Amino acid sequence: MEKQNLDWSSLPFSYRETSYSYVCNYKDGAWGEGELTSDHTVTMSECAGILHYCQEVFEGLKAYTTESGEIVCFRPDLNAQRMADSAKRLCMPAFPEDKFIEAVKQVVAANASWVPPYGCGATLYVRPYMFATGVVIGVSPATEYQFRILVTPVGPYFKGGDTAVTITVADYDRAAPHGTGNIKAGLNYAMSLYPGEKAHAAGFAENLYLDSQSRTYVEETGGANVLLVDKQGNLVVPKSFTDSILPSITRRSLVTVATDILGMNVIERPVKFEEITNGDFVECGLCGTAAVISPVGHIKAEGVDVTFPDGAETSGPVMKKLRETLTGIQAGTVEAPEGWIVKIA
Ligand code: PLP
Ligand code: COI
Repeated sequence: MEKQNLDWSSLPFSYRETSYSYVCNYKDGAWGEGELTSDHTVTMSECAGILHYCQEVFEGLKAYTTESGEIVCFRPDLNAQRMADSAKRLCMPAFPEDKFIEAVKQVVAANASWVPPYGCGATLYVRPYMFATGVVIGVSPATEYQFRILVTPVGPYFKGGDTAVTITVADYDRAAPHGTGNIKAGLNYAMSLYPGEKAHAAGFAENLYLDSQSRTYVEETGGANVLLVDKQGNLVVPKSFTDSILPSITRRSLVTVATDILGMNVIERPVKFEEITNGDFVECGLCGTAAVISPVGHIKAEGVDVTFPDGAETSGPVMKKLRETLTGIQAGTVEAPEGWIVKIA
């Protein structure tokens, strides 16, 4: 199969129309068949639920070309499960998990020419999403929905690649006012745009959000979970006592990689922001499908100036090892735990 003529190694993290998307409609209490489409636009009623009460949830995963030239994706079953959890919280029908995985396979296979080649640094970003197309005027869930998957080839989310970024601390809550951060719903991201723009305008790559009840504990950033390494070399993973950190598939996988493959000691516990400002951690990274594992060198805010000594300029040794192992699993050069890699073509 002939690949598209793109400069793969300099792709930004941005949207580019590809050959096909996948679409499936929910009506009269049931999902339809679902099909590929080359129509990349959506037409709906002016009174559709998504436009008024923001019933929308989404997912993000990637397709990779392995060293041996296969196209694979990483743990799509966990995206299917998390999307069902997100949908439940927004009173939307779940998209069946086996249908989700089949749809991912179908749309990635149909766009094989857009999957970046092995070793170029780019991947195919796969974005399943679902929104209310049914009309509502009183505040209530819609009865009609559309599930779609778009795919687009992307480069690194943080422009500097392995160069450590500086982040700041948001004065705002990330999740919607009555909501929770543990679901992947567009409305949570809408609430992060204002603080996000403030942070970017001040030169920071991201916002770190603290827990909304006490503003004491570390939660996560706008688009990625946080990983820390303490002075004893333990991987410390912030845990939310209010269950408001998005259950990152990358983070959950890295906990397994660190424990079972790298033999590291992993501690998942609530982490006070004060521990960071006290200098208790030597490395910090942001992990997610888009972020992969991006090193954080500094955290700066009013009265806060933290440097992570083992990763101030580029990834420290622990983040580097974690990233190499995870990307090796995704590229087929490191043996994957059972069921993690799904072959597409
Ligand atoms: N946290 C937030 C707020 C995110 O948007 C993402 C991206 O999906 C993540 C964490 C990482 O999750 P995952 O590793 O499942 O992509
Ligand atoms: C992802 O990593 O898939 C996300 O959804 C993060 C988003 C900020 C691009």
